[in-house]
Amino acid sequence: SSIYENGIFGIRPAVPTAPTVLERKALDHLSADARAYVETGAGSGATMAANRAAFDRWRIVPRLLRDVSDRDTSIELFGRRHPSPFLTCPIGVLELADTGADLAVARAARQAGTPMIISSQASYPMEQIAGELADHERWFQLYWSNEDAVVESFVHRAEQCGCSAIVVTLDTMVLSWRTGDLDRAYLPFARAMGIAQYTSDPEFQRIVQERLDQGEIPDVAAKPTPAAVKSLFTMARRHPGEFRENLTSPLPKASVRTFLEVFSRTTLTWQDLAWLRDRTSLPILVKGLQSAQDAALALQHGVDGIIVSNHGGRQLDGALGSLDALPPIVAEVGGRVPVLFDSGVRCASDAFKALALGADAVCLGRPFVYGLALAGEQGVREVLEHFRAELDLTMAVAGVTAIDQITRDTLVEAPTG
Ligand code: FNR
Repeated sequence: SSIYENGIFGIRPAVPTAPTVLERKALDHLSADARAYVETGAGSGATMAANRAAFDRWRIVPRLLRDVSDRDTSIELFGRRHPSPFLTCPIGVLELADTGADLAVARAARQAGTPMIISSQASYPMEQIAGELADHERWFQLYWSNEDAVVESFVHRAEQCGCSAIVVTLDTMVLSWRTGDLDRAYLPFARAMGIAQYTSDPEFQRIVQERLDQGEIPDVAAKPTPAAVKSLFTMARRHPGEFRENLTSPLPKASVRTFLEVFSRTTLTWQDLAWLRDRTSLPILVKGLQSAQDAALALQHGVDGIIVSNHGGRQLDGALGSLDALPPIVAEVGGRVPVLFDSGVRCASDAFKALALGADAVCLGRPFVYGLALAGEQGVREVLEHFRAELDLTMAVAGVTAIDQITRDTLVEAPTG
């Protein structure tokens, strides 16, 4: 692969290959606001730490003399072959890292052969992202809006954009206690926000216009009506940072306000999945599962795949490490649907461990954002290529030549004490 060939000719990668160096350099490179948004986990950061600690409790046992000359990192998902077991996680508000954002990621993902999961919170409309992906594999990640029309429209657009699966993120009915963002009053987030998917949506535009027509969205620069004042107070209580931004802005941010109102449906239950099932023939995956009981419920409600994830430790503080959640879920699912994994994967051996514990594929999160921050499209491409090349070598030195040989018996639990 190109990283070796480049190395022979003395061409250095644009991004560091060591995960901790990559992270430190990228975080140093970002503005304090962007850094806070990307880096911080929920609350005390315990879940992020637990994600990393969980990998440490497993060790790979190398096996020798097994002819590792011919190695195959490819996998099959939903009837399609992919060159490696990696996908890119849906990551929102990427323009905080680089103005190319999702478009740069799309080009990089295509070149690296890594399927991309387009975020509901992307910085560009999915149609534009799909344009960059050309015929490359893409899925769409859905935050389930409390407006049915927006959900339907997003799913319809995703189908039109050639997405081959819908990933419903279930762990973010509310944005949790994110200290880095709270301390900055969500201002950088509010400015960037990642609402292009919404502002480009005809149903969303219709809702914004309706609200404006009905005076439900006050223009704070104008003389406020009693209804407007009430709405402002509600907003101030719910979104203090956003409120402040609006007060200092000369224009009513009708779309931002409407987005905050329609972003999620906190009343959502398992029964609602049937409604979505009726509206698309695409495979439906649910993302954010950490409990085997929830995996059983997901299967009962007809999902086609599960992504074991704790949102990179950004939602529930004090939760279990995502890798600790994987084996019980894999056991519950029993091979009936694919189980994907994310949260805390920083190098190929992490991915190896997740595969060994039963994951069918692994989604990469923050590392590609670090690549984006440091070197745009090239940075993302390199991070993705490095993961694949490192996995290939990890397989060779572990003594396996295909992904399905990465099984539970390649691991032992780390000695304690
Ligand atoms: C996310 N994640 C996320 N998930 C999702 O379903 N939709 C989204 O828009 C976002 N946005 C987002 C932004 C940022 C800055 C981060 C770091 C994460 C969660 C993401 O898909 C994935 O679950 C985690 O990133 C995995 O954890 P690590 O590997 O990044 O620690």
